[in-house]
Amino acid sequence: MEKPFYITTPIYYVNDKPHIGHAYTSLACDMIARFKQLDGFDVKFLTGTDEHGQKIEKAAAAKGVDPQDFVDEVSVSFSNLCPLLNLTNTDFIRTTESRHKAAVQYLWQQLLDSGNIYLGEYAGWYAVRDEAFYQEDEIVNGKAPTGAEVEWIKESSYFFKLSAWQQPLLDYYSKHPEAIQPESRRNEVLRFIEGGLKDLSISRRTLKWGVPVPGDPDHVMYVWLDALTNYLSALGYPNAGYEPYWNQAIHVVGKDILRFHSVYWPAFLMAAQLPLPKTVFAHGWWMVEGEKMSKSLGNVIDPVEVVATYGSDAFRYFMLRDLSFGQDGDFSQSAFIGRLNTDLANAYGNLCQRVLSFIYKNAEATVPTPGDFEEADKALLAMPNDLLPTLRKQIDNFQLHRYCETVWQIIGEANRYVDAQKPWSLKKEDPARMATVLYVLTEIIRQVAILTQPILPLTSFKILAMLGVEDKNFASLKLALKPGFVIPEPQPLFAKY
Ligand code: MSP
Repeated sequence: MEKPFYITTPIYYVNDKPHIGHAYTSLACDMIARFKQLDGFDVKFLTGTDEHGQKIEKAAAAKGVDPQDFVDEVSVSFSNLCPLLNLTNTDFIRTTESRHKAAVQYLWQQLLDSGNIYLGEYAGWYAVRDEAFYQEDEIVNGKAPTGAEVEWIKESSYFFKLSAWQQPLLDYYSKHPEAIQPESRRNEVLRFIEGGLKDLSISRRTLKWGVPVPGDPDHVMYVWLDALTNYLSALGYPNAGYEPYWNQAIHVVGKDILRFHSVYWPAFLMAAQLPLPKTVFAHGWWMVEGEKMSKSLGNVIDPVEVVATYGSDAFRYFMLRDLSFGQDGDFSQSAFIGRLNTDLANAYGNLCQRVLSFIYKNAEATVPTPGDFEEADKALLAMPNDLLPTLRKQIDNFQLHRYCETVWQIIGEANRYVDAQKPWSLKKEDPARMATVLYVLTEIIRQVAILTQPILPLTSFKILAMLGVEDKNFASLKLALKPGFVIPEPQPLFAKY
């Protein structure tokens, strides 16, 4: 039986269409999901849309449309992004679906039955943009610490006894250092919890657009309680079968929403006697040419446009390689083009092009039969398998950029091998040796293409198809290419800008 693996993106607010920040979380999860799938795991990869709450209600009202019609339309721009970016998500959840609403109401009942919910009155600040409550002492110059506008609300509300979970959370995190990553973010969360947790308002009476509170339909649930539960509802919770995946859950989120995922969510789960996710990983934010991406600055980058111009593989590569996963990054035109030219066209593209064209023209377009391998051949051929444990660690430690670096080391080594072995000179001097060198190179291209699948699925697919390779999982690295396969005429894999 394959080991279950479960990874999730946040579910995206449908108040506006997607930008590269949204695409980023999804791409990072996709790279990890693809890796795990190729490495023999039974992978579930979830993404979706967060469709309730005041922010969405307001956005629909501003357009003068019914909230359901509004979310139906905007959700599509997010679900369309999945095939566009070549995501391997196994599900796409919408919080307006009945399977989700039923699960949230069930969870609410668990929290109520276990004595974790009481009715009270909330008076305090609320930021619609963040869908978050703020304490008086958090307000800076009349705004939320995030810069969002706040409004004063005072109404009857159900509360979750968050204060009761302060110590259990601290105890849990001291036993599970891997539960919040990277470490710097973990420390921020711990300091926040140590600062004291107040009970959390989890329902609104003045809002209609949400999941009704069981037994008191005058209230709808707080959108974050509703939204966080998507991770369970998509697995079929509370029906049996969700457990094996839930026990392996990894949530990848942006740093701005870590608190919801590492304080509120685990407290709800503990209160409902459910296991906590294995890890919540918070990544950084993308800026654009050194500035914060915002509608008012007019610098929001649409992933649909980037993909239309450069293709999805190029976009994936840049996003996954350029930023140290966890840090903030900058989407600049010069960095983007630089990466595409240097790493894709010049390094990877050139390796495939020079080797496969040479075979096409000088070796009857046929994968040659090798003679005995020399030391240099063996050293190159051993690289991918030897590096596999390192690559596994890099994925498990969320070092996605390092994974790219490691694979490109092999590409660099293979290009140096071509220069050193000079197959063009061997053609006259030693055709048997030329055959061996070309075989080694096609074999290394096969292995590299297997390893680049999580980053560059389309290009890897093209390369493997050219070589007639059918087994593509990591276990097949150990196999060897069969000589005699006739390759088609090679076409350039990457454009140069
Ligand atoms: N709906 C909530 C999440 C609920 S999860 C139970 C939400 N949605 S969001 O659409 O505002 O943001 C979704 C994700 O996109 C977050 O992880 C956020 O960090 C990420 N990004 C939004 N802008 C970003 C950048 N400029 N850069 C990188 N990621 C960014 O929050």
